[in-house]
Amino acid sequence: MGIQRGSEIKPAHGKLGVLLPGMGAVATTFIAGVEAVRRGLAQPVGSLTQLGTIRIGKRTENKNPKISDFVPLAGLDDLVFGGWDIFTDDAYEAAAHAGVLKPETLAQIKPFLQSVRPMAGVFEPQWVKKLHGTHVKTGTSKRDLAEQLIADIAAWKQQNDISRCVAIWCGSTEVYQVPSAVHASLAAFEAGLDASDEAIAPSAIYAYALLKSGVAYANGAPNLSLDFPAMHELAKQQGLPIAGKDFKTGQTLMKTVIAPMLKARMLGLTGWYSTNILGNRDGEVLDDPDSFKTKEMSKLGALEYILQPHLYPELYKEFHHVVRINYYPPRGDNKEGWDNIDIFGWLGYPMQIKVDFLCRDSILAAPIVLDLALFLDLAQRSGMAGVQEWLSFYFKTPMTVPGLYPEHDLFIQLMKLKNTLRYLRGEELITHLGTEYYD
Ligand SMILES: NC(=O)c1ccc[n+]([C@@H]2O[C@H](COP(=O)([O-])OP(=O)(O)OC[C@H]3O[C@@H](n4cnc5c(N)ncnc54)[C@H](O)[C@@H]3O)[C@@H](O)[C@H]2O)c1
Repeated sequence: MGIQRGSEIKPAHGKLGVLLPGMGAVATTFIAGVEAVRRGLAQPVGSLTQLGTIRIGKRTENKNPKISDFVPLAGLDDLVFGGWDIFTDDAYEAAAHAGVLKPETLAQIKPFLQSVRPMAGVFEPQWVKKLHGTHVKTGTSKRDLAEQLIADIAAWKQQNDISRCVAIWCGSTEVYQVPSAVHASLAAFEAGLDASDEAIAPSAIYAYALLKSGVAYANGAPNLSLDFPAMHELAKQQGLPIAGKDFKTGQTLMKTVIAPMLKARMLGLTGWYSTNILGNRDGEVLDDPDSFKTKEMSKLGALEYILQPHLYPELYKEFHHVVRINYYPPRGDNKEGWDNIDIFGWLGYPMQIKVDFLCRDSILAAPIVLDLALFLDLAQRSGMAGVQEWLSFYFKTPMTVPGLYPEHDLFIQLMKLKNTLRYLRGEELITHLGTEYYD
């Protein structure tokens, strides 16, 4: 990973700025949640950095510190929130509109939420067809827009006395795009900014501006934004950690738990049909086929990688995998995801598994935003630059170093994450080797 085991980690002194391009349901649930936890009003359930422990040494040693005591993470009191949106709503109005948290919860922290106001966003309607933003920057070129974002970041850091900064894309899912010539190198991308190349999406302009400003960046949505050679190059050049993409929260979280079980027991799969109903703004955006295509590609990948049909053709060759998202306003942010899984066992006898997950999208995503903010900051202070594969745990489509395949199995991802923390602190990695010395 390019750094020495147990090398020095810079201390987490001062304020950590958390910049959020896109301040809708997920972002405001995250901000409101952190404030509620800071005031002792609630528990940070779902957050590994806040509640998780890590085993150190042999099982007999019984050493299980909290992760937050084991590695030097920023404290919640040191987090400062900012960001951009294409609507002027402050975090209170946006949270009230999203309808995730109860009015009584929001009322307790209303003045704080009202103080978090979005800066004007960079937006082009062809990238998110269902939204018609009103709080949008104008500029002479995409380069000019990037410069405006860079100026926003510098001014915001100064106004808020920020010593370090990370960013997490919580904006809408842009339409599907494959990388093209303009994404192939930093030089090509910068020329594309000057020429306002139409293949440069708004989310990629944010990525450029953030990395140029020395801000570590993770992408919580499936759109390209960061996952192409030009941004990998810029991150390396700037010595910044990057991660993505698409928070792994609901149905895919279940998929990456159930599929490894099927493979572990050598049970076969003939089909996996997943469908969802979702009624928030994200659901509305994904009702556009081009934005849905981006999400669909992200959701489809996990099974192929986990099941490895090329290694187990008798079990997983040509299984049917279908993913649907249906926009259904009455449910708001409370998604319902159904999975019908057609499997087969001994002698090919068929069986079925049915999953009905009544989840809350932003309640599952908010702790991921918190963990990513704290771990990105830790990575940055540890000198880790480029793609952070150890954060795959949090993503539906984990970004990898070019040429490597992504790891999707949730428990392998968790082991990788914890072993990275052990490595950073110079502790033995845990391999679960079954001898009396190491088990
Ligand atoms: N469980 C989850 O909630 C989950 C899981 C995985 C991924 N995601 C992704 O996270 C993102 C946020 O989800 P959400 O439920 O908060 O959606 P949301 O619609 O409530 O919020 C998105 C916000 O981004 C803003 N926005 C859109 N384009 C922008 C731009 N160019 N600049 C600045 N702001 C912009 C919108 O105005 C909106 O306020 C979506 O892309 C979603 O697909 C969410």
